[in-house]
Order: sequence, then C-alpha cells, then structure tokens
Amino acid sequence: MRSVIDIVDLSVKELDELMKTACDIIENPEKYQEVCKHKKLATLFFEPSTRTRLSFEAAMYELGGNVISVSSAGASSAAKGESVADTAKTVSCYADIIAMRHPKEGAALVASRAATIPVINAGDGGHNHPTQTLADLLTIYREKGHMDNLTIGLCGDLKFGRTVHSLINAMSRYDNIRFVLISPEELKVPSYVKKDVLQKKGIPYLQTTDLETAMPELDILYMTRVQRERFFNEEDYLRLKDSYILTPQKLRNAKDDLAIMHPLPRVNEISIAIDDDPRACYFKQVLNGKYMRMALILKLLKEAGTI
Ligand code: NCD
Repeated sequence: MRSVIDIVDLSVKELDELMKTACDIIENPEKYQEVCKHKKLATLFFEPSTRTRLSFEAAMYELGGNVISVSSAGASSAAKGESVADTAKTVSCYADIIAMRHPKEGAALVASRAATIPVINAGDGGHNHPTQTLADLLTIYREKGHMDNLTIGLCGDLKFGRTVHSLINAMSRYDNIRFVLISPEELKVPSYVKKDVLQKKGIPYLQTTDLETAMPELDILYMTRVQRERFFNEEDYLRLKDSYILTPQKLRNAKDDLAIMHPLPRVNEISIAIDDDPRACYFKQVLNGKYMRMALILKLLKEAGTI
C-alpha cells in the first residue's frame, strides 16, 4: 500500500505530475467534484493544527468525498494508551485514506506499516511535513515559473522546523539550487539533514546568523516560527523566539521578485506591514496547499484501486 511519509517517497516526476494535477484542479474544479464520492478521509491529528487539517478536509469535500476526524490527542483512545499501530488498524476499517499528525518522529511511518489503507504524514514531531512541502513547491512554481536556478534562504528555527527539513529534501533534487541557512547558533539545521542531503548531493549552502547580509541574493525567503513546543525549557524559547523579525526596512536590499514564504502560523516573524507587499506569498501557500492535497489524495486513492 502506497503511503507518503517523507517527501522523497515521491519522485521528482511525481512531484511535477502532482503540480500539473493541482493546476488542472484550479482551472477546472468541476471535473473533480465527484471523483471521491462515497470515499472517506480520516484526519487523525494528535497535535494542534489549523491549515493542515482543514485543508485536508476541504480537499476531500471538494473531491466529493467525506471526512471523519480526530482533532486532538485527548479526544481519541490515544489518551487511554492505545498504540499508533492499533489506531491505524482500527481506522483502516472505517476510512479509505488517513492523514495523520503526531508529536513523535516516526509515528506516521509506524501507522503506515499497520494500516491497510494509504497514510499521509501531516507532520511527525520535528521530523518531516511532506504536504506542507507540496504547498511550498506549487507556490514556488506558480511564483517563479520554474523550480531550478534558485537561491533559497531559510530563516528561523531550522532545527525543529519540520517544514524546513522536507523543503530542503525536495528542492535539493532540482538543478542549480543554493541554500542560505539563516538561524541562531542553537537552531541550525540538524547534522543529519546536512550530511545525508546537502553534502551527499553536493548542494552549495551557506550557514549564517545574519539575515540582512544574505537578503540581496535571495530568490526565495522562507521564514519560520521558533517551535516552542519542541523546546526543553521556556527560558531558551523566550531568548530565541524573536531572533528574526522581517520588517519592510529589512527588505530594502531584497530583489524585486523575491518570494516571501512562511508555512504559518506566524507569531512575530513577519511584520503585518509586509502582508500587502506583492512579494508576500504566505497566504497563497495556504490555498496552494489545498490543491496539492487534493492532487495527492486523488493519486493515492487511484493507486490503491479505491477510485
Ligand atoms: C507548520 C507545522 O505544523 O510544522 N505548520 C503548518 O502545517 N503549516 C509550521 C509550524 O507549526 O510552525
């Protein structure tokens, strides 16, 4: 059974096909209105979420399907001590596909091994978040018109930010990509991402603490929130949380066609004064996420022979 746990579970060709399907959905939504009729998506969210859960649910409704949902850890038998594997087996009896978010790294993988239906990882701890990356990729494609020859600045909590890890993995597979990794010393990209992805593939990258010096060369600036829930103590969080705040002033040396991205939720990282700047793309990412999740649900249900 095909599941998507990591963005590299999808080949570059498949990513391009998903983007093509998403663009077709945008152009011809009526074609897709009933393709998942009588099929059910289960959203199992054991961690807070607004965009990811609601966009999965909106995606399934727009495909003509139905949704069943666990929207918090306390609301399911997980609170009684049920294992992820048992939960996945159980939900396989009720639904056709699962989208799961869990605070533990590897939880979605465990679920996919136990389930008899496709499982989509909607975020596992500080590890991966492949469907946010699908939203990011479609945004990059629609803003830039191409996926290669880009200098991508990633800024903020690069240690615990799972969207960053998945995006590095995905963009490293396109041609002539360069990363500028901007973070406080304590929140650098984990060494497994540097070793297994960037160094292994010979992708050029620069690590810095200084956003403003890096700004002029960036084609994309991907801001992230400091992940409070993954810190061991509140003091460190409070010290680091406002390390980077993007203001109009800091954009004065930026390219005119810079794409400013953020997976959201934002706390303080981007001043609301930037929201009206034509380079701000973060609410476009939100919408693109729904279309890419529609494309992914369709793909996995087709491959499973469900539709
Ligand atoms: C992200 C996440 O959950 O990792 N949110 C999202 O899904 N768009 C980013 C975050 O929480 O900071």
